[in-house]
Amino acid sequence: MNWVFPILFLSLSFLQNPQIAIGGFDISKQFLEIAKQDEVFDWMVGIRRKIHEYPELGYEEIETSKVIRDELDKLGIGYKYPVAVTGVVGFIGSGQPPFVAVRADMDALAMQEMVEWEHKSKVPGKMHACGHDAHVTMLLGAAKILKDHSHLLKGTVLLVFQPAEEGGGGAIQVVDSGVLENVKAIFGLHVSPALPLGQVSSKSGTLLAGSGFFEAVITGKGGHAAIPQQSIDPILAASNVVVSLQHLVSREADPLDSQVVTVAKFQGGGAFNVIPDSVTIGGTFRAFSKESFMKLKQRIEEVIIGQATVQRCNATVEFSSKDKPFFPAAINDNTLHAYFQKVARDILGPSNVKTMLPLMGSEDFSVYQEVIPGYFYFLGMKSESNKKPASVHSPFFEVNEDILPFGAAMHASLVANYLMEFQDSETQLNGKHHDEL
Ligand SMILES: *[C@@H]1O[C@H](CO)[C@@H](O)[C@H](O)[C@H]1NC(C)=O
Repeated sequence: MNWVFPILFLSLSFLQNPQIAIGGFDISKQFLEIAKQDEVFDWMVGIRRKIHEYPELGYEEIETSKVIRDELDKLGIGYKYPVAVTGVVGFIGSGQPPFVAVRADMDALAMQEMVEWEHKSKVPGKMHACGHDAHVTMLLGAAKILKDHSHLLKGTVLLVFQPAEEGGGGAIQVVDSGVLENVKAIFGLHVSPALPLGQVSSKSGTLLAGSGFFEAVITGKGGHAAIPQQSIDPILAASNVVVSLQHLVSREADPLDSQVVTVAKFQGGGAFNVIPDSVTIGGTFRAFSKESFMKLKQRIEEVIIGQATVQRCNATVEFSSKDKPFFPAAINDNTLHAYFQKVARDILGPSNVKTMLPLMGSEDFSVYQEVIPGYFYFLGMKSESNKKPASVHSPFFEVNEDILPFGAAMHASLVANYLMEFQDSETQLNGKHHDEL
């Protein structure tokens, strides 16, 4: 299937062990059994619903952060707080190297939930429509499992509860905090309504696109809508800007080098008979390579300003600012891909481990992958009963809570086995202690 695989096979002795055993038992399957136990499952469902009812936006995850810390306290797990404003980083294991991290994002979206159910969002205009409530819960589930088996951990696991994934660049702040220093690998997942429950899908190499945002103000001269000759109409100018921007991908980009430019915001005017002074447009652009990304950025600016000028308007263009930074493409480490597939097959069965094509979506997990070998994957939650589930970011999005044990077990197995394999496959590190412990 993958020509890289035989090479990895030779270079990494640990890949030749079909089953990884720690302390003499197969933890991968064991962890899933534990996560599915009524007591653990009900506990996770309770946490998920509590977080779902009180969604909080990026860097405002005060209550969410408190739920996390309360649960870590109850589990007797030490942590560092605050990290990246509202984030929490827990530590389990020996306190010694090697260090391995697993990450969950915490923030919700500024949108109104439309699902009518007992635990519907109690905050108008805010909703966990991207499953981050489940992500946090699954990492807490993993924390519980790992804590109960901490004597088996051959190193230290960092549980990274990260704020502000939805454009706020929480991952950048986590990296900048230095808490991930000396971490050898990081894992993360995203729930997928499209994949069947208990299936995982990912790929080696480039998985998700690099992304950026732009916003432009196109200024004309307002006036009476019935006397257009006395105005400079920014609505028509902005409309032509939107059309011109479509040329960038269709006519300037290599068709084999996937890119996206989407204008998703168009605001201007407020009356039927008034030409407004200005129009604001905004959107996102995506590409897999840095080169294509930077070229798009440059051309978006040129096209907006040039096209506005053609129609006697002025335009200013702003790109991702501090609260909306650029994200690089998410690139999965090839070695971790092989490792992930093996662990996932052990837990879920070989038929539930899929490979996928890259997506133009983006994830700030990519920020970690720029500094640490990292692996990101999708975990399915489509149930038999709901054949057409709503997508993420839909007001009708729903989490199938049966996914929680799978995520908890995947997280726990990936990091526990990693520490074991790391000890086996590499000579001990320089013995450096983690600064944060
Ligand atoms: C565009 O900018 C120029 C230079 O500042 C100015 O003279 C002109 O009035 C502006 N046009 C509009 C439509 O705002």
